[in-house]
Amino acid sequence: MGASEAALPISSGAFAPQFRTNLRSKFSSICCVKSSNDRQYGCMQQNGVRILKSYFRNRVIRNVDGLFEEEKQRTRSESLRCKCSQAENIRGAFLEDGSRRLVNGLANDPNLQRQHLKYEKGNLLSDDGLTAATSNVFGANSSEDEAWSLLRASMVYYCGNPVGTIAANDPSDSNTLNYDQVFIRDFIPSGIAFLLKGDYEIVRNFILHTLQLQSWEKTMDCHSPGQGLMPASFKVRTVPLDGDEDATEEVLDPDFGEAAIGRVAPVDSGLWWIILLRAYGKSSGDTSVQERIDVQTGIKMILKLCLADGFDMFPTLLVTDGSCMIDRRMGIHGHPLEIQALFYSALLCAREMLAPEEASADLIRALNNRLVAMSFHIREYYWIDMKKLNEIYRYKTEEYSFDAVNKFNIYPDQIPPWLVKWMPNRGGYLIGNLQPAHMDFRFFSLGNLWAVISSLATTDQSHAILDFIEAKWSDLVAGMPLKICYPALEGEEWRIITGSDPKNTPWSYHNGGSWPTLLWQLTVASIKMKRPDIAENAIKVAERRIATDKWPEYYDTKGARFIGKQARLFQTWSIAGYLVAKLLIANPNAANILVNVEDAELVNAFSFALTANPRRKRMRKGPKQTFII
Ligand code: GLC
Repeated sequence: MGASEAALPISSGAFAPQFRTNLRSKFSSICCVKSSNDRQYGCMQQNGVRILKSYFRNRVIRNVDGLFEEEKQRTRSESLRCKCSQAENIRGAFLEDGSRRLVNGLANDPNLQRQHLKYEKGNLLSDDGLTAATSNVFGANSSEDEAWSLLRASMVYYCGNPVGTIAANDPSDSNTLNYDQVFIRDFIPSGIAFLLKGDYEIVRNFILHTLQLQSWEKTMDCHSPGQGLMPASFKVRTVPLDGDEDATEEVLDPDFGEAAIGRVAPVDSGLWWIILLRAYGKSSGDTSVQERIDVQTGIKMILKLCLADGFDMFPTLLVTDGSCMIDRRMGIHGHPLEIQALFYSALLCAREMLAPEEASADLIRALNNRLVAMSFHIREYYWIDMKKLNEIYRYKTEEYSFDAVNKFNIYPDQIPPWLVKWMPNRGGYLIGNLQPAHMDFRFFSLGNLWAVISSLATTDQSHAILDFIEAKWSDLVAGMPLKICYPALEGEEWRIITGSDPKNTPWSYHNGGSWPTLLWQLTVASIKMKRPDIAENAIKVAERRIATDKWPEYYDTKGARFIGKQARLFQTWSIAGYLVAKLLIANPNAANILVNVEDAELVNAFSFALTANPRRKRMRKGPKQTFII
């Protein structure tokens, strides 16, 4: 049977309709269509019955031998019938053609139906009436109730099954850009909130559908990124079926960055996917998902992409600007902390989930080596506190030797004046980036918090990071937790580093803006270090405004006093982040689904690395890779 013709039975409610078995055999039992080069996958509706369909578009693909060939447009269908009602995201349901496009959940939920009617009458479109109206509609009596209603209203359905949540559901904003898509990173707090509520289906579907998208070949100007890359986002589209006026079809259309502003590659997506997969298993007790062959292959593909040899001298991942939550030019290209912390966490999570088998031995060896080298590198060279700052201040430079103290040739003049004033006597943090002759001293919240959560930072460093947040409360938490980074780039620095980006002006958006979604990560970190009071205080700050302000994406100004100039309202990860924070404070043990406990073997290897003679590492590269540490 040809690769593009096989039809296999489906074994679960979720679809996994397309496969690239000619490139590698990774898929297992839930497949229903097997094909090699499809652009999107979807199901179609004809005479009230949904039919799974795969179809082909003209496009260039890379075959197994790395050669290029042109695929002719073909259309195939009717591999599987599934009963599913019209699926669209709720925004589509509200704003497009009304009741004809009710989503599954909407059709069944009287509260949402009432909200839908209000939208149709224009009631909810009035800015002022929105919060009041939503409260009335949902009968909500607290921010938490309102948040749950809004989170449920952001659910996106594909062939009748929930598969994610849209990034923002802001009815006052007519220019949605790609905020009507399901972003992988944005879904993480939504997924965690659902897991903590015992609602596992949407997370399972999300994991399996995004896994299928991983295998897509997307190109930008004839170049495709490495296999294993997960998309930044995807959209469920309802499109007319070619040649049939009465039929429409639903397709999942991923964006790997080839349409995103700046064409940024989402390096963090695959790392988050692995972290969520482990959380799903730990929370639901259902390890059958992570044990599936296709899921195991998906994990390995992400790892292979991240562990591939390149030109790097450092064990940290080398990435371009904008490859994570900060997805615009902000001078974080190189080895940004956020990516390193997620990478470290994903490696630990993957190690827990990978089936022990002969074929994975080399991968697991490479993974373990990388963990040791990374923890040493970050703990040693990214750490900064009063003592370390004083050392850097007295650094000698131009040391050509194997045992240089100032290994990266950092010139003491790089210490910025703001840091001399800002560094408290107690506490410290991991800097944003390290490159030859360059330390980016900015404080990046997500990277520091995830270094605590993943145990990339030592226990002492983790406490010191929390001490630092407490000491710098008025700067970092201010009027709304939490600043994405501190301080903002201003003046000439802003002009050169951001390219005069009008969205990233000082103390706005990625450039020192305050992002409520970061509340959940602060909560996990403070619970891990048994200091939940920090999160409780931050939650109180958020609760003063977040619901009244309509759950903005971010806040502007140094003190987070204004809703962000271009911030979306009803931003889903602001809503979900708040819910996760509240749920975890109520049940701190549940934070274990996200935490990585420090591994004793790593600690031993780490202390060996500290005492190792650097000359001993200078041998020809054998099967075991060594990194400069
Ligand atoms: C912005 C954020 C990015 C987020 C996206 C959708 O681009 O920088 O992190 O995923 O919006 O909310």
